[in-house]
Amino acid sequence: MDAKDPIEQSSSPMVPPGSADCVEPCEAYLGMPAVYRSEAMRELMSVVVRVARSNAAVLITGESGVGKELIARALHHHSLRCSKPWVDVNCAALPEHLIESELFGYEKGAFSGAQGPKQGLFELADSGTLFLDEVGELEPRMQVKLLRVLDGVPYFRLGGVRKVTVDARIVTATNQNLEEAIRYGRFRSDLYHRLAQVHLHVPPLRERREDILPLAKFFLHQHDPSMRFALATVEAIANHDWPGNVRELRNTIVRAALLADGKELPPTLLSISGKVSTGQAAAPQANSLEAMEREMIFRVLSQTGGHHAKTAKVLGISRRTLTRKLKAYGIQNENHVTASRSEPERRTDRKAPQLATPVRG
Ligand SMILES: Nc1ncnc2c1ncn2[C@@H]1O[C@H](COP(=O)(O)OP(=O)(O)O)[C@@H](O)[C@H]1O
Ligand SMILES: [Mg+2]
Repeated sequence: MDAKDPIEQSSSPMVPPGSADCVEPCEAYLGMPAVYRSEAMRELMSVVVRVARSNAAVLITGESGVGKELIARALHHHSLRCSKPWVDVNCAALPEHLIESELFGYEKGAFSGAQGPKQGLFELADSGTLFLDEVGELEPRMQVKLLRVLDGVPYFRLGGVRKVTVDARIVTATNQNLEEAIRYGRFRSDLYHRLAQVHLHVPPLRERREDILPLAKFFLHQHDPSMRFALATVEAIANHDWPGNVRELRNTIVRAALLADGKELPPTLLSISGKVSTGQAAAPQANSLEAMEREMIFRVLSQTGGHHAKTAKVLGISRRTLTRKLKAYGIQNENHVTASRSEPERRTDRKAPQLATPVRG
């Protein structure tokens, strides 16, 4: 398993609301601070608070790094289940057979290596919230099984004979266009409608530019409260389009802060020149979005020396998604060093014991 991201490690507790370098509103949802100022995000968060109180299944869509997980956590935080378990799993990080045993659990001897019974994540999330991230990556057979369970059909642990029924609120997220995936037969439309009883879309950062500087200040302050931006740095940050969204912004600020000599951050450390916004431009066309994504992948690949695992991590996508995109964009592997296949990133492995513990709101 990869070592923990130094950027994650360097995060200090959130800045209290109202502090000089933070902007309202600033609240932490299960430890994830939320900073926003734009009307679009205010509106979205007010919908989150209203929807959270129901048991409706919520599908959160948006580009990678926009804050979908943060919205999912906010839904749990504001729900009547906030003192019950929060369990999250990244569907793209696990191969199909592992997803099944992780989600539904198994009995001793169900397969070689099953030395004892194990509860599935559905069971762990009973009476709480189960967050299925990157749900668009689920294989067809798992889609069928998931749909049945969501429809209230009891299931068996792998190798089990006892029926299990659970009451877990389902929140899912994807950066894929699921309507298109349905058209191409990659995603079941009945499952889509079951998951998207409420559909929340998180806009990309370039469509809510008022959030850019408050977020940038927040990340810098979180890293080192005594640091500040040079004027030209503020301009460069404000004018950049941030195709990798909040994740890219955070990584850029923290990296620059780590490299800075003094307490003032010069624009040269950002390495974001050449991606300046054209202002109130119309929404980018599909192919220009693709071009942005392709360029972004190239840029990060060259920054990481072609290291796929690191590239996927910086981009906030799974190795599998990266491989799919490299193939789709015809980016040749031989130009890059391919790291030996690391174990899939199993967030539940790292976090399950804590996540399964009731989180008090
Ligand atoms: N509004 C926000 N305020 C503070 N941090 C944010 C905000 N939105 C996203 N982030 C941070 O950006 C990173 C990416 O967010 P995440 O929710 O994982 O995005 P996604 O799931 O859409 O890829 C995380 O570190 C998250 O804490
Ligand atoms: Mg995510």
